[in-house]
Amino acid sequence: MLSTRALSASKQLSRKVSVLGAVRAKHTVPDLDYDYNELEPVISAKIMQLHHDKHHATYVANLNAAEEKLQEAQAKNNVAAQVAVQPAINFNGGGHVNHSIFWKNLIGEKNGGGHLHDGALKTAIEQQYGSLDSLTKAVNGKTAGIFGSGWGWLTFNKALGHLDVIATANQDMPSSVGHVPLLGVDAWEHAYYLDYNNVKAEYFKNIWRVINWKDVAKRYDNAVAEHKASKN
Ligand SMILES: [Fe+2]
Repeated sequence: MLSTRALSASKQLSRKVSVLGAVRAKHTVPDLDYDYNELEPVISAKIMQLHHDKHHATYVANLNAAEEKLQEAQAKNNVAAQVAVQPAINFNGGGHVNHSIFWKNLIGEKNGGGHLHDGALKTAIEQQYGSLDSLTKAVNGKTAGIFGSGWGWLTFNKALGHLDVIATANQDMPSSVGHVPLLGVDAWEHAYYLDYNNVKAEYFKNIWRVINWKDVAKRYDNAVAEHKASKN
């Protein structure tokens, strides 16, 4: 049996741990590695500012709120409430993860955007798709076929052990279907409408000029290394 003093110390500690835990669990919007106008004229500074500071920030705020609800439900051992909050965690968690990848996938033309350098990824793209041009057509075709909101992706398909092109609805993540995301194209209207209005095909065509292939290649190398390690 704990003394009153020990009990009080223990309560204080658990309060501290829970406060620390809550602080640690809070998600934040990652800073961009570049200025809002980095991607012009392909994507305007106005879109980047809204997209990053408002849209992404809303996913993060809603994710934090949903996780708080989940913690409360867990503390009360309320299974129904835990299940009820999962869709909000999936949607806003996906929005946070997908956009965090997207910002890194992009870079201005003057800083190397659109240039696929020699290396394992380029070799794999050429082996599987014939050329970068054919790959972009495959991604654009997949992305254009999305009904409503979603993402087009170049992925590493873990089951097949090679590159793949997929689309996901809303904020679903490639990892939910066994794919490692390498390159995402945000096909939500908020990603292009201010610049392109209803002509989204033009946005899909232009975005390849600002792809940071160094980032995509790094993700590919990591995915291949992890895949090899999982087979050993
Ligand atoms: Fe978005």
